[in-house]
Amino acid sequence: MHKFLEKIKSSEQKPYVIKNFISLDEVKLFQKLYNELPVEINNRRQKIIKKKWSVDFDLNLQKIYLDKLRLNLDNFKMDNPKTKDGKDSLGLFQESFMPVSLHVDSGFDFSKVIFKQTLLPLSDMGETVIFKNRFYGCATTFSISPEELKANGYNKRSSEHIDLYGGKSFDENTHKNYLNHEDINNLKGLEVDLIYKWKLGDLLIFDRTSLHCASSNLINKKLGLTSLTIKL
Ligand SMILES: [Fe+2]
Repeated sequence: MHKFLEKIKSSEQKPYVIKNFISLDEVKLFQKLYNELPVEINNRRQKIIKKKWSVDFDLNLQKIYLDKLRLNLDNFKMDNPKTKDGKDSLGLFQESFMPVSLHVDSGFDFSKVIFKQTLLPLSDMGETVIFKNRFYGCATTFSISPEELKANGYNKRSSEHIDLYGGKSFDENTHKNYLNHEDINNLKGLEVDLIYKWKLGDLLIFDRTSLHCASSNLINKKLGLTSLTIKL
């Protein structure tokens, strides 16, 4: 459990979207950067390619990105896992061919004051579902499938969420329209806060304590950049 719970909770907010965070020309710069970066992880099981934005790549775009983030977020520091070469990173590009399942990106260091995470859409189509429910343990993928619970990955695997949020059945329509890649029983007690339809140029900001997942409406593939922050 995170140590500075009160501090973490005091900066919690509803998820929100910054319209026109970057221009469409800048979107192209991010897409170009993605193509140039080395692959960090190619997970064939989850059909996802991950590339970390090492501080060695594109200083000019780093300045653009950080300046714009600072205009929109108060007193934060980046908190992205380092690259496999041990370099600091500005975020994680994820190209996914399958919807990512329910999880939280709360990190593994309970002495940090985890703050916001951002999602910069870099493909036209995509949808992300943010839940009202919060989690104050480590970064976890939530599942009730014995197979998934046995799987290895960066996140811890757990079904502890089922006992945390009251166990009310999840709304069937929302499940059918947005979350049919999830077992509806894995969503017990969850309440949707925001279904964000990706738009190029936008930035989605939400708390690192928020449970979230991709929507099942994934056509072919999507590409986005996520950054994790802590509060200064
Ligand atoms: Fe995430």
